This record gives sequence, C-alpha cells and structure tokens, in this order.
Amino acid sequence: MSTESDTGPHPNAPATAPPARGAVTHAAYGTVLTETGLGVHAAEVLRANDMGGWTKAAPLLYPHQWSWDSAFVSIGWAQVDVHRAMTEQQRLFEAQWRNGMVPQIVFNPLAGPESYFPDPARWAVEVSPEAPVGVAETSGICQPPVHAIAVARIWEVAVGTAAEPEIRARLRALFPRLLAWHRYLAEQRDPSASGLVTTYHPWEGIDNSPRWDGVLGRLEVGEVPPYTRRDVQHVADAGQRPTNAHYDRFLWLLELLKRYRYDDAVIHERYPFLVKDVFFTSVLIMANRALLEIADVVGATQAERTTIRGWVDRARAGIAAATDAASGMAYDVDLGTGAPIEVATFAGLSSLLDAGAPTARRARARAVFDSEDFAGHPGLRWAMLPSTSPRAECFDARNYWRGPVWPIVNWLYWKGLRDGGDTARAVALREASLDSLRHVGFAEYFDPMTGEALGSAMQSWTAAVALDWLAS
Ligand code: SER
Repeated sequence: MSTESDTGPHPNAPATAPPARGAVTHAAYGTVLTETGLGVHAAEVLRANDMGGWTKAAPLLYPHQWSWDSAFVSIGWAQVDVHRAMTEQQRLFEAQWRNGMVPQIVFNPLAGPESYFPDPARWAVEVSPEAPVGVAETSGICQPPVHAIAVARIWEVAVGTAAEPEIRARLRALFPRLLAWHRYLAEQRDPSASGLVTTYHPWEGIDNSPRWDGVLGRLEVGEVPPYTRRDVQHVADAGQRPTNAHYDRFLWLLELLKRYRYDDAVIHERYPFLVKDVFFTSVLIMANRALLEIADVVGATQAERTTIRGWVDRARAGIAAATDAASGMAYDVDLGTGAPIEVATFAGLSSLLDAGAPTARRARARAVFDSEDFAGHPGLRWAMLPSTSPRAECFDARNYWRGPVWPIVNWLYWKGLRDGGDTARAVALREASLDSLRHVGFAEYFDPMTGEALGSAMQSWTAAVALDWLAS
C-alpha cells in the first residue's frame, strides 16, 4: 500500500487543508446558527472533507468513501456544485463489483491501515472473483441504495441550467451501473424472489440497531483474529458507540463472509446472519422509482423500464407481507427462525418511504410515526423520528442506532412523506429538522431528548441533508 510520503502530493489531495484535530469537535460553532449560517457552514463541511472527487464521510472516524454516505453527500454537493456531485457518484461506481454490488467502503489508498478498522487486509476481498481487484480497495458488503435517489436529485438541480447537457451525458454513462446495482439487490440478495432484500451484516446500514440483537445473540462466535478498535479512539465516550461484544460479532461475521468468498449463493446456504430487511428494501423501492425518472432522461429501453417496474411491484408486495396488521409496523424477517423481528425502530415505518404504497398502509404508518412511540413522544426536543422508539425497553438515547436521531433518516422520511402527498407533515418535519441542525450542528447523530450532539462532528451526510433541506 502506498503512503503519502512515498508518493508525494496526490492529484486527489484535498482542496482545503483538513481541519486540525482540535477543530473537529461538536462545540466548533458554539452558537445557534441562522439558516444562512447553516448553509455556509454545511458547504464548508463538505469542502473540508473533500478529497478531490470523493468525500470522506467524516474527518477522523470515517476517513474513506462510504457508499450511502456518498449518495447523501452528492445530494449536498448538488447545491454547491452539480458537476462535483456527479463526480462523487462516478468515483464510487468505479469501485463497483463485477456482480453489480456497490461496496460499503471504498478505501483511500493513501490513508494507511491505522486510519480505520477493519482495513482492506481484514476484508481481503480478493478472495472473491467479483471484487474490483486492481481498481480499488473495498470492503465486502454493501449499504442501502440511495444512489439513484441522489442522481435523480442532481438531475433535478441541473435541468434548465447550463450544466444540463453535460449532466445528461454523465447520467447516460452511469445508468447501466445503477441498473446493475439494483439488479444485484433484486436477484443476488433475494434469490427466493420474496421482494425483500437480504442483509448480511449490521454494517450494511444500521450497525448496532436492536433489530439485530436476536440474531447476533444466537451467534456462536468462533475465532476472531486479534484487533484494535479505532472508532473509540475518535469518539471519547464509548457509550455512544457499539459495545465490544457487538464488535466481536461483527468481526466474526466478516470472517465467515471471507471464508465463503463473498459468494451470495454460498452465503444464503450456510451463513448465520440472513435478515429480510424492510428498511433496505423500502430505500430500494424509492431508488427504483428514482431510476425510472433517470430512465426517461437517458432514453432507457422499454425492457429496462419494465424490469425496474417489476422490481418495485415485487418489493411493494414484500413490504405488504411483512407488515403487521395489528400494529401497522413493517418487521424484518429473521431467516434463521423464519420469525418477524418485532422491535420498535424507525424501520417499522418504512411504508412511508414508498410514495406509491397503498394509502391505507401509509396512513397506518403515518399514525405510528406521529404517535408517542415515535415523533410524537412528549419528551422529544424536536418532533423528529428517533432511530429506536423511546418507549422500547432497549432505547438508549445516546448510543448510535439504539435511540439517537439521525438527520439522514429523517431526510428519507421527509422525502417519502412529501412525494406521497403528505405535504403538511413533510413541511413540519423539514422545519423541525432544520431547527435541530441550527442548534446541534453537523453531528453524526444526536440525543432525541436533549439535542446533545453525538458521535462524529463535521459528518458529511448531515451537512448534505442540511443543504438540500435549505434548498427545498
Ligand atoms: N458505521 C460503521 C462503523 O461504525 C461502518 O459502516 O464503522
């Protein structure tokens, strides 16, 4: 692996100097920002994390290009520089696997193994014939497919401007890769054609969510080579991060995926963490609807459009089947037991992400959204969606995906509400979200009750959704 010292300045070196360590704190701005100030600082965060063509997810904790982070980041860049927004996605898709998978992490080859754990050597994706060996170093799993949603937003911003012809041409080049990515999810991640995407690992999006506790609890953890956690070196309060017991399980799953050479067929046969994921699937529905818009722009074939529509219909039926009639909640299915995972998290409201879902199902989810179980809880600082219901026993207001509010999740629900015609609710969620960001800044996540900024500061995707909300 090359290092900065032996290669000299890299053409992708950041345009602005990375912020000094002391500057990467939640207290950086200290005061409540105006909306104008919020936009100015959000753009500064993207510029500070810009590595020249791709954007670090965060300055210290996440020093590489993360898949769904980069999609949100493109949505933010679209408001600053629409060309740069498109480049972000092109760079990410250069690392696409031969089977269509867009990897969760594309590693910065200049950053060095001590910058993040697990590093490329731990993933060893070269054991798979599908990995983009020689092109990029990546991890061996994926994340929710926000990319087509981002690209459709880029188009929306570019249309009618001088950038339109160039962006259209770049969309044409990217479209086959987006289609291959969605095909991978529809086929390799759903071999039984249930309509629901199978997730293989908590790092495929929602990390230490209590949704995975049951499956992880059943795991018989084998031998995990020794490792040093880097994340807790950057987030001083370990109570905001997953536990060591979680990490042992995450790393054991990685060892198994590697043993199975990241082969989807083998994984579906033997692997112990297989969950039909209602949130991942609902993001895919939103993304396929966006891909149909892009199909119009690039002049896709009828056959391609029919395929995409088929994926939407099948996934919609999958979510309907996973929705509990009594509670109105959509629940993941644990393929190890065949049972629904009845944990009250934001994922249960996933029907709201599909603007074309039947009205009655959306209305049920909307009622739960606004109930005291979620955004209507009287203790909340802002009426936003927390990652886990404050009324659930496992709720932890400060720990990662076990309670805190994640602005990007609220952005997705805001878009789902707005596109589904629930305008008043969408407007209120946007206002609450912008107000929270003016107070909290660009934290990775925050305490739903106190509004305390948590996790990483200067998180790129938080800045990105601020920019989009300001423009919407
Ligand atoms: N979010 C994971 C982490 O904490 C990786 O995707 O490192």
